[in-house]
Parts: sequence; structure tokens; C-alpha cells
Amino acid sequence: MSKKSSIFAPKLVNWERMDKQRTLVTAALPYANGPVHIGHLAGVYVPADIYVRYLRLKGEPVLFIGGSDEHGVPVTIRARKEGVTVQDVVDRYHYLIKDSFERFGISFDIYSRTTSKIHHQMASDFFRKLYDEGKLIEETSEQFYDEAAGEFLTDRNIRGECPRCHSQGAYGDQCEACGATLSPDELINPYNAVTGNALTKKATKHWYLPLDRDEGWLREWILEQHKEWRPNVYGQCKSWLDGGLKPRAVTRDLNWGIPVPVEGAEGKVLYVWFDAPIGYISNTKELCDQHPELGSWETWWKDESTRLIHFIGKDNIVFHCIVFPAMLKAHGDYILPDNVPSNEFLNLEGDKISTSRNWAIWLNEYLDDMPGKQDVLRYVLTANAPETKDNDFTWKDFQARNNNELVAVFGNFVNRAMKLTEKYFGGKVPAAGELTEYDKATLGEFAGVKDEVEHLLDEFKFRDALKAAMELARIGNKYLAETEPWKLAKSGGSPETTDHADGMNRVATILNLSLQISANLAIAFEPFLPFSAEKLRGMLGMKSFEWNQLGRTDLLEEGHQLGESVLLFEKIEDDVIQAQLDRLARIKEENEAAAAAEALKNWHPMDVKEQTTFDEFEKSDIRVGTVLSCEKVKKSDKLLQFRIDDGMGGRTILSGIAQSYPNPEELVGKQILFIANFPPRKMMGIESQGMILSAVNADGKLVLTTVSAEVRNGAQVG
Ligand code: MF3
Ligand code: ZN
Repeated sequence: MSKKSSIFAPKLVNWERMDKQRTLVTAALPYANGPVHIGHLAGVYVPADIYVRYLRLKGEPVLFIGGSDEHGVPVTIRARKEGVTVQDVVDRYHYLIKDSFERFGISFDIYSRTTSKIHHQMASDFFRKLYDEGKLIEETSEQFYDEAAGEFLTDRNIRGECPRCHSQGAYGDQCEACGATLSPDELINPYNAVTGNALTKKATKHWYLPLDRDEGWLREWILEQHKEWRPNVYGQCKSWLDGGLKPRAVTRDLNWGIPVPVEGAEGKVLYVWFDAPIGYISNTKELCDQHPELGSWETWWKDESTRLIHFIGKDNIVFHCIVFPAMLKAHGDYILPDNVPSNEFLNLEGDKISTSRNWAIWLNEYLDDMPGKQDVLRYVLTANAPETKDNDFTWKDFQARNNNELVAVFGNFVNRAMKLTEKYFGGKVPAAGELTEYDKATLGEFAGVKDEVEHLLDEFKFRDALKAAMELARIGNKYLAETEPWKLAKSGGSPETTDHADGMNRVATILNLSLQISANLAIAFEPFLPFSAEKLRGMLGMKSFEWNQLGRTDLLEEGHQLGESVLLFEKIEDDVIQAQLDRLARIKEENEAAAAAEALKNWHPMDVKEQTTFDEFEKSDIRVGTVLSCEKVKKSDKLLQFRIDDGMGGRTILSGIAQSYPNPEELVGKQILFIANFPPRKMMGIESQGMILSAVNADGKLVLTTVSAEVRNGAQVG
């Protein structure tokens, strides 16, 4: 970007064109309660970055706004669990996320945070304006309250028995056992998820955005004027609107967030979904204040000729298409989004990605494990983007796409063109002679690619656009494979040529065209694979590059000296993929062990299991043993490894109770009960030969069961 020292943004944009056309692109602000994973990347950041890079390449004024979403309940829960301040948590993840995005080449013009001063001011003023103009409704209602802790509870912090499936530990908004969407009022025996205290109800005052009043114009604006939005986005909006909108609370009883700027609202903050999208505006202001050449932030947010595009995941649709526009409209000065490209979800090896179950590929870990392979992940996530339906990421597919497409087609083509030019023409671009019919046919195929990629990108069809761009490499690869210039150079002739000089002329033409196609690749792939495109431009010694040069065959002049050739992509071997699969297998085992412990914890004292028979009971071989040693399993938060004197020569048992026993060595010498006839199971590479019995106490901690007087090890219980 001109005059701006962003390390990513190439100096492409012509800011003189600001008056004509302006695009403001935002990407959902990720919660600063954990690192970013491949689901976020595929759903939001990779497509947004492709789009922005494409516009920059066209020289169009565009700003790309990002930042961390640092308010809300999850960060406070995390802080409590870890015994640190909330500020510590958001600082840690904000910088981790920001750094990972930079390393991954997500080319934000600004990546700021919702704890910034500018944002607090902006969000507070926004609320105050709506409040002053009577655009909010004030209402007192009864909410769940923990007397002992002196706090109101948010839905997620309330747990209890599910009214549908009667499993314990359902959340105030959802039961994870049966998937039911719940409201806290429906829970049976609700309690505070953190303190375990029973809850009462207490009156509290909140402010609501009366969305019911917005139905009319929202219907017209979305359902009539934006039929071009993606079907998943349009469809979700329609079903919300058809279902009827209700007023939504925009404040919460919480001590983390932006204080409600109204007298008598002590202890209340703005709801995170009220302040976070305003973060797009605050971050734009922060950027423009630092860079006067970008114009005023208000031009970007208030001038009708700005196109505003929000990239989001599908769980964010209602907030970006209905709630935020209603806020902007109520405020009165702002433009509304032009489009809200939203993706479906990406699964990982057949299972839903989950932060709490650690079922994810974390961007920071990927960058550490696979140095220099940013573009491989960008490629795979785009080629397999969940644009129209949920999709699955598998490591096998990752490997196959790298080896069979990036290496075998793209890399192979460019490498051959470069190497042959080095060999026969000293690395100088040879002159093209007369074109054969085959050359012309090849050029004909490739001429249409620019329009096609452009058209698809304009419609936010990134997956198809990448496929179309890849066509260029396929055409090039096929061209070289079929013309076989290396053979021509060797034999000095071909059916068409009779002497060596003619043969070399033909080779020159073929290589010239191949290099021109390579130069086209270096432009077309800048949005998709920026690291490789840059490498390629370096190899070709290209000084200028813009989108409008695409499709031309005179990008490299005759006699132009090429740079040094390097491999664009490298084959990924099986052991690298296996290491990743092993990591996932370990996580799965750990989760299963934890789920077994959790199930025990959630067992309600009043629930009695189904009746059994003596014969059934007799099948369990429960015995007494003495703990010889006990230690945490490496790389596992949940597992303890026990060595037990079982009176039969000893055995190893793993148990998912590490969180209840921070000092496992204190268990040594205790007599415990274990089931001796479970089939052996491997977890985290260790074989577990049985199951240790434990019970749950009032704090939800697991306690080992024992005997009331010493007995012989190996004694049966029954
Ligand atoms: N933090 C939210 C999420 O991860 C997204 C917030 S988008 C914003 O789902 F618009 F509110 F910023
Ligand atoms: Zn349920």
C-alpha cells in the first residue's frame, strides 16, 4: 500500500482513486480466549485475505480491518480457571493471534483490539447516542443470581439437568449431550458452573435494542435488495425474519467489558456482541488517524460510495446481517454492508473442530511444525473451502493436494521452464518465433482465464477461482509435456524442423511462452499463495505486477535476465503426515478418558442406575491394590499413570483424574479399588490394564475409593 510501511501490503493501491471507488473489508474479530485454528482460517481469514489482495492488485483503494474480540464471558472463565487476570488472558492470546496472522500472511492493514482506548470511547459513545435518542428500551427482569458469590450469571455459566434428555451438566444455552438449544429457565436444579452454588432469581435492569421495530426495512433491504447474497446467508436471514424479531439485551451484569455509560448502571457492561462489531469502526479510526493519506475514517464508514464487506463464519450471520445493521441504522450516520460472505464449517478428520476438546489444528502450531508451508495450507483450505456446505480437512488430502497439485503441476511446470532456459539460453528469456497451431490453441485456452478468475472472485467464489487459476499451471504443464523442448534441443530436430538451428528456434518459442505463462502465474496467485507468488516473481525478475497484466504474453522481454531458480513447493513425505495423525490420535484418547471421568462427575446423587442382576454384577472383577507409584502422563492434562501392586505381579492403570490430584505422589501407599478384568487399552502410547474406581465429592473433584482397613492386595470385592 502506498506510503504505508505495512510489511505485507504491496505498494499497489492508487490512493488517488479514492474518490471513485472504496472497499472496506472486515474479518470477524476472533475471541482472545485461545489461538486461531484452521476452521477460522478457512471460514474467514483466508477468503478475506484473497479478496483484499485481489483488489489491491487491481489498484483499488481497499482497507482490511481486523482485531481481537477481548470482551465477553469466555475470557473471564479462562482467567478464573487459570488463576490469572482477564487482562493477562487477552494479552496472551491477542499477541499470539496477531503474530500468527502476520506469519501466515493475512495482510490486515490494522490488527487492533477491543480493549483499546479508542474502542472503549467509540463503543461507549455509540451506546450513549442510542440511549439519548430513546432508541433503546429499558427493562427490569428476574435473572439467575448466586447469593454467595454476589453475581448474576450468564447463560453459559449456568448448568443443570437437561429437561429433554435428563443428562447432568447441560449449559444454560445448550445441552451438549443431546444438542438441544435451551434457555436457563428450562434447566432443572440450575447451579453456578464455576462455584457449584445453587441459584436464586434477582431483579436487574437492562437495555434492549427493539429489533421488532426493524423488521420492515430489514425484510426489504435483505430479502428484496440483496438476493445476491450467498444462499446460506440469505436463507438464515430469511428464517430469522420469518420467525419474527424480538428485542435483544445489549447490556450484561458482568465486571469485564465496557461500562454502560448511564447513571445507575454500575456493575453493568455492554454486551460483547454490541461492542465487538463497533470494533471494526474503532480500528478503522485508529488506522486512519495514523495515516492521513487514507482519508478520514468517516469517509470509509459514512460515505455512500464505500462498499462494506464483512467476512464471517456462519455462527455470526445474525449479528452481522441483522443486529449490527440495526445498530448502524439506529445510529443514523452509517452505511450498511454490501455483502456478508459467510462460510459453513470445516471439520477435522470427520469430527467437529472444538477448542475445549483441543480438536483442531492451531495456526501457531502449524507455523512452527511446518516452516515455510503457509501457502500449502492456504491452498488446501481454499481448494476445499466450506463455501456451500460443511467440509472436512484431512491430513491425507493435505498431502495429496501438495504432492499432486502444487508440486507435480505448478512447481514442476515452473521449474522445468526455468531450468531449461538456464540450460539452453543462459537464463535469458529467448525470443519467440512463429507460433504453431498448437501454440495458438494453448494461448487460446489461457486467454479466458483472467476473466474467469476475476468474475469468480467478484462473486466471492474463492474455491472455483483457485481452480480456474490452477488451470493456468495445468495448461503450462501440459504444453511442456507435449512439446517436449528438451528432446528437441537434444536431437536438434523434430518432424517440423530439419536442422539444429530450427530446432533451437522452436525451443526458444516454447520456453518464451512457458515463461510468459509463469509470469501470469506469479500475478494470478498473488491473492491465493502470496509467498510462492513472490518467490516466483523473484525468480522471474519481475519488477512490476498488476492484475490487469494477466492474460498477456509479453510480460517478460526478450533477453531479460531471469533470477536464480528455487523450488516453489516440496513433496511432503508420509512420516510428516503420520506425526500429525499420531498427535490427533493422542488427543482423541485423552478426550475419551476425560469424558469417562466427566460422566462420573455429572452423575447426580439422586439418579440410580437401572436395576441389574447378581450375575451381571458378578462379571466385574473388582479388586484391592496398593499404589506403588503415581505420576502425570506427559503432554496430558488429564491422565495419571498408576503402578499398582495387585497381588498378581503388578499392573499399570491410567486414570483421567489428574485435575483432581495436583500432587499425585501423595497417593503412593494408598489402597485402592480397581476393575481387574477390563480389556487392556492403549492411551497416549501407554497400555492401561484396568480401571481405578473413584467417586465425586461436593466440589466436583474425583476422589479415589479405598478400604476401611488394610487387606491383602488382589483381594476381591463383592
Ligand atoms: N468473536 C466472535 C466470534 O469469534 C466474532 C466477533 S465479530 C465482531 O465468533 F463483529 F463482533 F467483531
Ligand atoms: Zn439434553
